[in-house]
Amino acid sequence: MSFKNSYMSKQILVTGGTGYIGSHTVVELQNSGFDVVIVDNLSNSKIEVLDNIEKITGIRPGFEKFDLADAKLTNDFFQKYKDIEAAIHFAAFKAVGESVQEPLMYYQNNLNSLMNILSGMKTHGVKNLVFSSSCTVYGQPDKLPVTEDTPRKEAESPYGNTKAVSEDIMRDFAKVNDEHNLIALRYFNPIGAHESALIGELPVGVPNNLVPFITQTAAGVRGELSIFGDDYNTPDGTAIRDFINVVDLAKAHVVAINRLLNGKNKKNYEYFNVGTGEGVSVMQLVKVFIEVTGVNLKYKIVGRREGDIEKIWADTSYGNAELGWKAEKTIKQTILSAWNWEKRLRGIK
Ligand code: UD1
Repeated sequence: MSFKNSYMSKQILVTGGTGYIGSHTVVELQNSGFDVVIVDNLSNSKIEVLDNIEKITGIRPGFEKFDLADAKLTNDFFQKYKDIEAAIHFAAFKAVGESVQEPLMYYQNNLNSLMNILSGMKTHGVKNLVFSSSCTVYGQPDKLPVTEDTPRKEAESPYGNTKAVSEDIMRDFAKVNDEHNLIALRYFNPIGAHESALIGELPVGVPNNLVPFITQTAAGVRGELSIFGDDYNTPDGTAIRDFINVVDLAKAHVVAINRLLNGKNKKNYEYFNVGTGEGVSVMQLVKVFIEVTGVNLKYKIVGRREGDIEKIWADTSYGNAELGWKAEKTIKQTILSAWNWEKRLRGIK
């Protein structure tokens, strides 16, 4: 370790750090004393996020704007930032429907960026990586809840497949690069926003995901929420998900980074479920929203959305025990944080 590193805080690369989960993770890393450099091409996020991260933490993270799917630019970055000790790779396209229409765009972006980062890490001696994977790799599981040993299923969409293939790339890379240590975190459904309401999810156009659609409807931006299907084999007929608070999720990344930096990992490629362990139905979530906000949310039941699975939630026991982390926020706190964020965006008192 250089003299410089012995007194400076450890530097972490966060790709996609101005995005939804990335920005919350940057805040938690800075709160834990890490020095953060963000790389983001701003294709789905705004530069103003840096101001809000600074307002929350008092520290402005480093920032470089370029596309990680460009191998040369990625290599140049690692050449320039010689003190990076670990990377967290969030930067990726994530719209399931769009990925069906534009499969090449998804494979090119999501896979090239990961390979360029691994290649840059190998060339420049950066040993540790935490990657954003998804419970989408389990498809509709035969048995619930899903453990890390639940078999993966063939992906329903090119987006989902980029997550499965990314995990395979990490596994294969780790096999022949003993000195590198990689963790994939399989997120369930991240929702909510920072309690300051200064950062949160910023969907472009009409939101695909449930909670931004709910909060926009409540704010009067959308006329009515459509609930996709009430004929599933679930207690109230609507689909079930494991909704994880985005700040809890961000903290799981800090824990994963510390695990790697402190050499506590058991293998050099590990993967963990990151969820709450509780299944909540779409209708239950809508009811919680109405209860905690007092807003009379307009909704109607429509047909199922193509490609949706019926139900999934995590068995978190392995991840909780190994990482020493668990989700702490209640669904009510989380929903309220999402609403406070939407209200601030729209100037609602
Ligand atoms: C999807 C992806 C997941 C990805 C996540 C975030 C799959 C199978 N899932 O999760 O990998 O990480 O998006 O991009 O690829 N719903 C409504 N009305 C709406 C919107 C949603 O009823 O207006 C319902 C959906 O039908 C679903 C639930 O709410 O049952 C959650 O949907 P959504 O927030 O889009 O997340 P997923 O599809 O679970």
